[in-house]
Amino acid sequence: MIVPINLLNTANITYDITIDNLPQLRFDRKVVIITNPTISALHLETLLSKITATELNVVTIPDGEEYKTLHTVESILNQLFEHKLDRKSLLIAFGGGVIGDITGFTASLYQRGIDFIQIPTTLLSQVDASVGGKTGVNNSYGKNLIGAFYQPKAVYIDPIFLKTLPPREFSAGIAEVVKMAVMFDKSFFEFLKDANFHNENTIKEIIKKSVELKASVVNQDEKEAGIRAVLNYGHTFCHVIENETEYKKYLHGEAVAIGIVMANRLAIELGLFTQEEAQKINNFLTKHNLPTTYTIKNIDSFYEHFFLDKKSSNGSIKFILPQHIGNYKIVSDIKEEIIKKVLKSFGEI
Ligand SMILES: NC(=O)c1ccc[n+]([C@@H]2O[C@H](COP(=O)([O-])OP(=O)(O)OC[C@H]3O[C@@H](n4cnc5c(N)ncnc54)[C@H](O)[C@@H]3O)[C@@H](O)[C@H]2O)c1
Repeated sequence: MIVPINLLNTANITYDITIDNLPQLRFDRKVVIITNPTISALHLETLLSKITATELNVVTIPDGEEYKTLHTVESILNQLFEHKLDRKSLLIAFGGGVIGDITGFTASLYQRGIDFIQIPTTLLSQVDASVGGKTGVNNSYGKNLIGAFYQPKAVYIDPIFLKTLPPREFSAGIAEVVKMAVMFDKSFFEFLKDANFHNENTIKEIIKKSVELKASVVNQDEKEAGIRAVLNYGHTFCHVIENETEYKKYLHGEAVAIGIVMANRLAIELGLFTQEEAQKINNFLTKHNLPTTYTIKNIDSFYEHFFLDKKSSNGSIKFILPQHIGNYKIVSDIKEEIIKKVLKSFGEI
């Protein structure tokens, strides 16, 4: 299955996202694989058996979001110089979203930009992070604040890698899948409700549909000037939750799940969504062991946090809300008391 990315309107770029068994890949140039020890122990041998190149090296970085930093980028760059990569060389991101984001960003920097390809190995990175060319790292001011839009030359998604993914990480990816279904495609949501995510053909279909939805958004709006913001459904709340819990309690996808529940409640308050629809989504999230509750201890400070989000502008918060399942509405003029009323419903009484 191939999903094309077509950015001819903006960047004159096209490439394919292939969802299938990883093919044999031959490169007439130097290649460096960027990965971490967890993925390397499980899958590097398989990857190496599929690649031939003029020269092939592996750079391993520590596992974890806390290493998605400029410091790690610099250490990778140094190793690329030691391997004497030239401007024709290629990087391969082999791992989850952290490896993908950091490899893409490093590729954008090395000698003003060299090619890279993505071979994502988590569900979240297969359905979301590897699609669309957002790359970057975190700093002390926040997540993904330093980065570049830098498209890969190709993305190869092989669901076989998911077999070793811890169940919590798998569920975190499901949150991003349901996000896309609720925003854009009611029949996809209905399909997901009863789908067995561990069936080989079903998961392939789910990945393909998710990638198609994200690709169609990216093709229209590579740099998030408009519709791409819809992919942030649930994320305005999620970012506050992640911040309040210091990125320790929840995986990103888990915080997205809670954010979706909160956004749905706000949509109900505005008459855009029904209780029954919200319940269907809660049931789905619960079925996949995703959290749906959160206790807001201080409503005012939770509310103030919205304004620190990089998506808020000129003191107005942009909420991406469902307008029934399968449609979205971007709303930016919601009264403070309405938002706080919704937040209070998550607070201690
Ligand atoms: N660029 C984008 O558009 C975009 C979109 C969404 C998220 N992101 C970013 O993605 C990151 C989160 O990605 P993630 O959820 O993949 O997390 P991750 O990259 O940290 O991977 C999660 C864990 O799973 C391990 N792992 C990876 N593949 C495995 C496998 N096949 N078997 C066993 N373990 C495996 C990793 O080593 C890690 O410990 C965040 O940094 C987020 O900002 C980027």
